[in-house]
Amino acid sequence: MVLFDTNPKSDPRFLYGREKELDELVESLKKKNWVILLGPRRVGKTSLAECAIKKMGEKIFLLDARENSDFAGALNKLLKIPESSLKVKTDIKVPYTPISIGAEYNKTLSKKDLEYLLKRIGHIYIIVDEAQWLKNPRKVVMLLAHLYDYYYDHVTFIITGSMIGVMKSILEPGPSSPLYGRAITEMEIRRWQSSISLGFLKAGTAELHLELNDKMAINIEENLDGLPGWLTLFGYNYSQTKNPNLALTKTIKEANKIVSQEVKSIAELGIGTQRLIAVLSVLAKEPLRFVDIGKTTNFNNTSLSKYLSTLGRLGYIEKDTKSRYYISDPLLLRFVKDRTINNVSRKSHAVYGWDDVT
Ligand SMILES: Nc1ncnc2c1ncn2[C@@H]1O[C@H](COP(=O)(O)OP(=O)(O)OP(=O)(O)O)[C@@H](O)[C@H]1O
Ligand SMILES: [Mg+2]
Repeated sequence: MVLFDTNPKSDPRFLYGREKELDELVESLKKKNWVILLGPRRVGKTSLAECAIKKMGEKIFLLDARENSDFAGALNKLLKIPESSLKVKTDIKVPYTPISIGAEYNKTLSKKDLEYLLKRIGHIYIIVDEAQWLKNPRKVVMLLAHLYDYYYDHVTFIITGSMIGVMKSILEPGPSSPLYGRAITEMEIRRWQSSISLGFLKAGTAELHLELNDKMAINIEENLDGLPGWLTLFGYNYSQTKNPNLALTKTIKEANKIVSQEVKSIAELGIGTQRLIAVLSVLAKEPLRFVDIGKTTNFNNTSLSKYLSTLGRLGYIEKDTKSRYYISDPLLLRFVKDRTINNVSRKSHAVYGWDDVT
């Protein structure tokens, strides 16, 4: 099974429907531009970044900020990979300590280590995945600017993140920012149009010799709304259950579990999950501007902007052209709607695993 493999894709042959984005990214990287890939959860940011580096025949270095929010510390770990593994022509994922969203930023990058590594390797591509979870934006930006200025020929960064989550200082460096004036290309990864989602479902099921009639495919596409991550999970479940209806139900259930785990993990940031859920519940009814969310929830401006920024970092909400926030994940939207509008029973909370977070 290749298309419905639920790991991020790292082989461009199995990256479906992203030819244009892949070419664009490879072109930018060939020009040695640093690139920021922005998009909602599960849209395929990590896959695209890994495939582009693979397409160029290079090794992949991945720093996942969700697992290690200390940028310099993570780079240090990367630099301490034994020389022998650097010579092996395989992907290297740096082994990290457990999730450390609250970790203090207190490490500095050793110049000696960096120079030593670069001397051996010549040039490296580093994916900084989910940059919105990095701590201490000011220091991260300073470190990036330093790397840009002194090691531009040796290091190329691909930074991924959610649209309203990635630090403004990286996205829109103002004149006072250390990154001001550096060539950093921004790319937005969008969800698939329905024809591409349908094509993906057809190709994935054909690969596994499974039947999927048009009506069912359209039903799945409508439920999962162009997010490759959920479509892939459906495909995987279909391969296991051999029953598309059951697979869709299983996907929705699992998605709810995943989402509730994610929301739960941000309790570590000290924000009550109930408050985040209150904001989501309001947005599940209709997209709203900041002031209107404030009026409906009665949260003060400071608190509300903190909650919106956290939901943005999770990649759960986006802003439309009228500056209205909306829930961008169809399964999250459905779940919140079920939970709030239908006033579901405690029993169904438990089915969805939401009890875990309340
Ligand atoms: N273009 C694609 N072709 C095939 N599968 C894809 C594609 N894009 C994403 N996927 C699949 O969707 C899932 C999510 O992909 P990926 O992890 O790359 O997305 P992401 O945007 O980085 O998600 P997250 O927000 O969870 O980090 C994975 O199972 C991956 O294999
Ligand atoms: Mg990712």
